[in-house]
Amino acid sequence: MDLDGIDAIGRTAFEVALLRAAEDRRPDRLFADPCARLFLEAAGITEEKPDFTALMGPQVAVRTRFLDDALLSGGVRQVVLVASGMDGRPWRLDWPYGTEVFEIDQAPVLRFKDTAASSLTARCVRRPVVADLRSDWTGSLRAAGFRPGRPTAWLTEGLLYALDEAAADGLLATITGLSAAGSTLAFDHVEASAALYAAIGPDLARLWRPGPVEPARWLTRHGWEPDVSELADIAAKYGRRIHPAYDPAAGGTARAWLGQAVLLGQER
Ligand SMILES: C[S@@+](CC[C@H](N)C(=O)[O-])C[C@H]1O[C@@H](n2cnc3c(N)ncnc32)[C@H](O)[C@@H]1O
Repeated sequence: MDLDGIDAIGRTAFEVALLRAAEDRRPDRLFADPCARLFLEAAGITEEKPDFTALMGPQVAVRTRFLDDALLSGGVRQVVLVASGMDGRPWRLDWPYGTEVFEIDQAPVLRFKDTAASSLTARCVRRPVVADLRSDWTGSLRAAGFRPGRPTAWLTEGLLYALDEAAADGLLATITGLSAAGSTLAFDHVEASAALYAAIGPDLARLWRPGPVEPARWLTRHGWEPDVSELADIAAKYGRRIHPAYDPAAGGTARAWLGQAVLLGQER
């Protein structure tokens, strides 16, 4: 299968898959993700990038495991993976019976994924939703069967740092408007330094934006109660060393967070 029609931001999903496939091969892996290898094989991607893997591999491994646990923790049966890319969670997580997992992404990305995963059986009711997050995507999500009255577990992973502050605000306002009280939002976010951008490489760095300045304050402003941790602290809990660029104790200047927030009661 070729990647025709998948734009630069869409192709970043395969960079994440490379890192998850590398984690899957480790004897001490934090999660299993056979889908990542399958997606890479379907795309004909074999290239390893040692510098990129050293920098981003532990970050993605730790965030994936943390967000797996966050998504399953509440037993919520309506889940939305916002900008799902090559996320293998519909096939690899042990979802409660009857869970509906909506995957929002661009048409070429979802087309590729649907074809590549056609031999797999999802462990949930999987509902792909073609949408551009820069325009109104609520109609597409509802048309796919999403019910705003039900508590929802949202995921924004590998996304917030591709949005500027206004776009991130708009996204969260939309998510909030679609969420019943008690809904959750699991996320990662990175505030990178110039050195980190340089190490990531110009192609990827070009896609990064400053994003929400500080996630806890940002979420509180939108009516969510956040529980935010530093990536370095979660990594230490898992016994995994992260790249020094992300580790304040090692003098790292990039800040990285993982968290989950709960929507407080609101007038609807
Ligand atoms: C870095 S990947 C992350 C994928 C996934 N969340 C993960 O962590 O594996 C970013 C994804 O965001 C999607 N994306 C970026 N901008 C988008 C937009 N405006 N509308 C829909 N999807 C978008 C891309 O197509 C890509 O799949």
